[in-house]
Amino acid sequence: MSRFITSVQSAKGSTERIFNILDEEDEKNKNDFLEEPSFGTLELKDIGFAYGEKNIFENINLKIMPNTVTALVGPSGVGKTTLFYLLERFYDPLKGEILLDGKSHLNIDLDKWRSMFSYVSQDCPILAGTIRENITYGIQREVSKDEIINASILANCHEFITSFSDGYDTILGERGINLSGGQKQRISIARAFLRDTPFLLLDEATANLDTNSENMIKHALDNLIYKKTTIVIAHRISTIQNADQIVVLDQGGISGFGTHDQLIKSNKLYQLLSNQQKMTS
Ligand SMILES: Nc1ncnc2c1ncn2[C@@H]1O[C@H](COP(=O)(O)OP(=O)(O)O)[C@@H](O)[C@H]1O
Ligand SMILES: [Mg+2]
Repeated sequence: MSRFITSVQSAKGSTERIFNILDEEDEKNKNDFLEEPSFGTLELKDIGFAYGEKNIFENINLKIMPNTVTALVGPSGVGKTTLFYLLERFYDPLKGEILLDGKSHLNIDLDKWRSMFSYVSQDCPILAGTIRENITYGIQREVSKDEIINASILANCHEFITSFSDGYDTILGERGINLSGGQKQRISIARAFLRDTPFLLLDEATANLDTNSENMIKHALDNLIYKKTTIVIAHRISTIQNADQIVVLDQGGISGFGTHDQLIKSNKLYQLLSNQQKMTS
């Protein structure tokens, strides 16, 4: 009897938390008059953002041209990942707007907006399930076996996947095997290949990757960013040198932008960061 009461108590606690989540309001569009998104220049205009009392951006203005690579650099905690959250519209800016091909984010349906972006995050969480399910997660259309294999070859993960006895049916997560950080990121890159969106947001892994893994990822990304507008949070100089535009973020906003050669001459913070070679998260 006493044991039974204990489990009822703990179930009661968890149930409350589950119901709190179920009671969360759905994300809604802010506006009833919605336009179709179209591909073009992405522009952040007078963007301000804070988490509660904590100010992150005062007034960000930035233009990202189609089919270019923009690298974001800056010390840990300045808001690089937050900028991605704003682009994905996980949060709304407190002021300003994001323009896509001249149309305000406020006038574009949230789902359609997000279908323009792929996001390869820093830690690339893996879900419990097969490798195949992880690669196709969140993709709305039917995906053929050949497509999955092609994407995996381009993402440099086909080889390690087929080295498992169950191949693409290998179970990952709680009851299955664990992948290394580099392997997880390549699974995530394979998913981005399948999504094939015009914009790619890439938060480079900071976890120490061995050189081999780093090269594998670098080649996979070279394949992926071809003909895409890429924004990358860069921690390695190698990623930045060929970027069309580098944006240096500092407390509260943008401290400078330009190419590597321009910034190395003119921007103190950039000089400092690039002297550290492997830049901070
Ligand atoms: N959901 C959140 N709620 C409150 N503060 C947050 C949240 N996410 C990030 N922060 C804080 O905002 C700042 C910027 O975070 P982040 O964008 O992750 O920085 P970066 O990616 O440049 O290291 C940090 O100080 C961080 O602690
Ligand atoms: Mg970050």
